[in-house]
Amino acid sequence: MAIISLINRKGGVGKSTISINLAAGLAIYESRKATHKPVLLIDMDDQLSATISAMGGGLDDQFVPMITAENNFPTALGNGYGASDNIISDSLLPRKRDEKVRIFRTNKARMEGLEAALKTREDPAFQLTYFLESIKDEYSYIIIDNPPSAGIVPMNSLVASTHVLIPIEPDGLSLIGLADILRMIEGVHKNTNPDLKILGIIPSRFRMIRRQSRDVIEDMERMYGHLLLPYIKDLAEISAATTAGYDIFSYCPEKSQAYRCFSNLVDAVMGKLGQA
Ligand SMILES: Nc1ncnc2c1ncn2[C@@H]1O[C@H](COP(=O)(O)OP(=O)(O)OP(=O)(O)O)[C@@H](O)[C@H]1O
Ligand SMILES: [Mg+2]
Repeated sequence: MAIISLINRKGGVGKSTISINLAAGLAIYESRKATHKPVLLIDMDDQLSATISAMGGGLDDQFVPMITAENNFPTALGNGYGASDNIISDSLLPRKRDEKVRIFRTNKARMEGLEAALKTREDPAFQLTYFLESIKDEYSYIIIDNPPSAGIVPMNSLVASTHVLIPIEPDGLSLIGLADILRMIEGVHKNTNPDLKILGIIPSRFRMIRRQSRDVIEDMERMYGHLLLPYIKDLAEISAATTAGYDIFSYCPEKSQAYRCFSNLVDAVMGKLGQA
């Protein structure tokens, strides 16, 4: 069992896109095994991007009950209740498989109040850890999508996680941002969660034709080469799939660049977890 957080304080770097496709890819891989456990996708961001994509891009009939649920994830988490089956449902992903990624029923207004609710608790940073305690062993992988912040919400994710993935859009300032995130992770590792490991850095929305992107990648290879995972290219079909509420593995042909980017990433993540 691995609990993997996607973290970056910067917005729009592909955290949610990678979260849903990694969850779908791992679920496809797991479903091929004779005995297997489901994958759980947790959306910690009140924008609910991952939930919206995983529930059909807002178009599917199952979408509304999922994000207006009365028994919902942020209320349960904010009140210090443990996770229970009555807030867990199947998502629609991966589209072309029977076995679906599981997801928490949620509520946008409650999600927006989550940070304040967590701060009223005695151990604000440990709430997600306690919440997952009773269910985590039922899952093969738990993937946590996070908001673009460094507040108490992603802090809960880091404390509850076994591993972190850092998507980075390679541009001029991203190396400075990366140093900040690595420092934050190091702090959690030292003070609260000694089990936390950095699984890797994912150069995301990568445009080969941009000289600046190539320069930044070269710098990253030099400084963090052992942590670099396969790139996710910037491709129109990736954003089209996400908007339509599809995973790449169901939306794109196997030979497409988008499919290959994400299957390489899933393979690399599983390879690194196997060694870890
Ligand atoms: N590899 C890619 N190629 C093309 N478009 C992409 C790619 N990755 C993400 N996008 C698009 O970029 C936008 C931002 O992506 P995404 O929502 O995954 O980022 P994020 O880091 O989760 O953002 P936020 O911090 O706001 O939650 C979305 O419209 C998404 O469809
Ligand atoms: Mg997001």
